[in-house]
Amino acid sequence: MKQERIIAVTGTPGSGKSTVARMLAEKIGAELVGVNEFIRERKLATRYEKDGTAIVGINLLEREINKELLKRKGRVVIEGHLLCELKIRNSCIIIVREHLPTIISRLKKRGYSISKIRDNIVSEATDYCGINASLNYERSIELMNDERFLGTAIRFTQNKLKPRNRIDLLIELEKVISKDPRLAL
Ligand SMILES: Nc1ncnc2c1ncn2[C@@H]1O[C@H](COP(=O)(O)OP(=O)(O)OP(=O)(O)O)[C@@H](O)[C@H]1O
Ligand SMILES: [Mg+2]
Repeated sequence: MKQERIIAVTGTPGSGKSTVARMLAEKIGAELVGVNEFIRERKLATRYEKDGTAIVGINLLEREINKELLKRKGRVVIEGHLLCELKIRNSCIIIVREHLPTIISRLKKRGYSISKIRDNIVSEATDYCGINASLNYERSIELMNDERFLGTAIRFTQNKLKPRNRIDLLIELEKVISKDPRLAL
């Protein structure tokens, strides 16, 4: 069965991509590439926002990542929020999903503004990454960042899993807004 050489890991900021991608790469003996680090090293950002978010042209990023991945010979796990918007050659994609209250508390710890937290939880609730990933990748799976993540992700990389339905976290949006009305649109 086809096993893609590249495993992309995407998800909303604070969903835990970097954490679980590191664990996955170790387990399957793959190299790990972080998109944020790649953007910084290659100086691909046109500018940085006050909170450190890189603004980068999507076409340029897609081209540079594909070029870089061609140079690497073995399996690679690459992680980053923007990957859901890119077409990466010879890859499948895992979308890391996380409960909204967990994302809120992680982003608050980082000192993100309320409006930035709102944007991110709305993206998570409406499955921005999952919808984009399913448009850009032939094989994608959404997995909660929980104790089953690693085992299921490994099987996905071995192409041993049937396609899965989307995970619906929209119901959580109303609950978190009623707790903190500043998060309402
Ligand atoms: N499975 C997990 N077990 C324990 N802690 C976790 C797990 N996933 C994430 N975390 C914690 O949540 C925080 C955010 O995780 P992480 O930095 O991996 O998110 P991210 O999706 O890569 O965020 P960003 O998009 O901003 O890079 C970290 O402090 C990390 O330790
Ligand atoms: Mg990260």
